[in-house]
Amino acid sequence: MDTLAEINIKGFAEEFIDPTLDLFEEIKKLKKEKNAVILAHYYQEPDIQDIADYIGDSLGLSQQAAKTDADVIVFAGVHFMAETAKILSPTKKVLLPDIKAGCSLADSCPPHLFKKFREKYPDHLVITYVNCTAELKAMSDIVCTSSNAVGIVESLPKEQKIIFGPDKNLGAYVAKKTGRDLVLWNGACMVHEIFSREKITKMKERHPGVKLLAHPECEDAILQMADYIGSTTGILNFATKSSDQEFIVATEAGILHQMQKDNPQKKFFPAPPESNCACNDCPHMKRNTLEKLYLCLKNGLPEIFVPQDIIEKAVLPIERMLEISSKLGL
Ligand code: 13P
Ligand code: SF4
Repeated sequence: MDTLAEINIKGFAEEFIDPTLDLFEEIKKLKKEKNAVILAHYYQEPDIQDIADYIGDSLGLSQQAAKTDADVIVFAGVHFMAETAKILSPTKKVLLPDIKAGCSLADSCPPHLFKKFREKYPDHLVITYVNCTAELKAMSDIVCTSSNAVGIVESLPKEQKIIFGPDKNLGAYVAKKTGRDLVLWNGACMVHEIFSREKITKMKERHPGVKLLAHPECEDAILQMADYIGSTTGILNFATKSSDQEFIVATEAGILHQMQKDNPQKKFFPAPPESNCACNDCPHMKRNTLEKLYLCLKNGLPEIFVPQDIIEKAVLPIERMLEISSKLGL
């Protein structure tokens, strides 16, 4: 058996799990024993979504993390999400089933380079997409998610100059929607940049009337074809309320589990990638498994730590985002 320190360094405990154990039952027992809550993103594997207390998009998950009265938050998502939960609830223990569950978009914006970038625009306000490190949030004026980015930019005076990072695709979409001239950081998500316009066109021809639902992290060529653009929660709600029966979904494929569960009579197709890979599965999100979630609850590891000085700075732009979101009714 590994020591707890070794478990934390590896990212998860390589501990033998009795294959006859009912992990759903064990997780429920541990949750009660430890007064823990499981928050899961829609991109998690179906078993994790099914055992979670709350499933949501990045905004919904931050709102839950800020208001929970549990002692332990198990964050079934990626590192920046668990970090955001820790910043909002610093006295709680925040666990991430696999500490190596990162994010290509967050990695595309190293804080020391962003610091130099923002110094070139001293009179600009800095809005950062939540998919970034805590250190980057600490350098920001307002944080946003895919569901409130447009509303947050619109809430600012027209003459306000703005830097937007790290996602250039979301930034370009917000600039187009709001008519603002945003200075963009050149970052992107590895999952949302792989969809094929040609293959989607062919699918549309084979399925007359099918609707394309796209996440704003997708490239403009895909967004231009979309019938609806929104966050994962937005995409799910749109499909549920729509009278249409068939949908192509241009975001990480994990969302299809909930879409299908809520709408068993409707058909959902993952948008096809350029190559014949399964690259619309986020390799970071999918590092978490039910087994790792069980071990993480049982051992209380791996735990998320954020330095106090970063918490104090990063909490302000996140709280600003939550405040504006609640004014916007989000
Ligand atoms: P939302 O949760 O805001 O839809 O964003 C998706 C995403 O890429 C999370 O990593
Ligand atoms: Fe990051 Fe993209 Fe994975 Fe979301 S889907 S966690 S943005 S790499």
